[in-house]
Amino acid sequence: MRYEVVTLFPELFAAADVGILGKARERGDVSLTLLSPREFATDKHRSVDDYPYGGGSGMVLMPAPVVDALEHLDQARGGPTRRILLTPQGAPFTQRTAERLAAQPALTLVCGRYEGFDERIRRHVDEEISLGDFVLLGGEIAALAIIEATARLLPGVLGNERSATDESHASFLLEYPQYTRPPEFRGQGIPDILMSGHHAKIEAWRRRESVKRTLQRRPDLLEGRELDGELTKLVASVRAELAAEEVTRSEDRGGGVDPTAKPGASGDQP
Ligand SMILES: C[S@@+](CC[C@H](N)C(=O)[O-])C[C@H]1O[C@@H](n2cnc3c(N)ncnc32)[C@H](O)[C@@H]1O
Repeated sequence: MRYEVVTLFPELFAAADVGILGKARERGDVSLTLLSPREFATDKHRSVDDYPYGGGSGMVLMPAPVVDALEHLDQARGGPTRRILLTPQGAPFTQRTAERLAAQPALTLVCGRYEGFDERIRRHVDEEISLGDFVLLGGEIAALAIIEATARLLPGVLGNERSATDESHASFLLEYPQYTRPPEFRGQGIPDILMSGHHAKIEAWRRRESVKRTLQRRPDLLEGRELDGELTKLVASVRAELAAEEVTRSEDRGGGVDPTAKPGASGDQP
């Protein structure tokens, strides 16, 4: 995968030099080209932003330096890319978005700064993506999030291919609890089943814990899903278990209803 980023702060992408992403770049599995719109500024101050027409606070990125940077990247690359504008007004970024974008030969990520960018830049991108319903100082952190989330889906980038398919959001279930050494930490042990060496039972335990965790933390992920027969039964069984746990907790409190408890929630809240 070829990543290209149009950014006024290329130094923020030092994070892409380290860890799995850094190694993937060394191997040539991914490449990263950073280009500043400032290189396409035409005045002596190398201006890339200006006051908004109509007044208002802050500065706005001018269209010409950004679009010139995009065209420069097109020429250098030769092949196709998908241009993405980072904006809090875009479609929310999800694992499904990451899977779709990971299939592209190249991604060109355009980072805004200041109060944002001139509206006419929008015509020059294929889609607009938001990292979430909050406002960042610039698009760089969002671009890095997209690079990490997509790069780890590329063949060969993660050592163990299964890790990318087995975790939270790869399906619509959250990942089961994970443990590593030591077996006892400050009075807390680990579930016996994980030490049993019985792989089928461990798989079944993990699947149940995934369902449990999803029902407790993100029941919305299951809403409206068509579940197969096995999963339908499992969800019903875990729901019954959580409801029974809720009744026990309520009895322990003397039968009173805890006004702060969420329906179906147990003590395993994050
Ligand atoms: C301070 S923000 C400008 C927000 C703009 N005034 C608005 O209300 O849409 C500056 C830049 O940060 C980036 N940014 C901020 N929040 C973001 C988010 N949630 N997702 C993606 N990019 C974001 C965008 O590139 C944006 O142009």
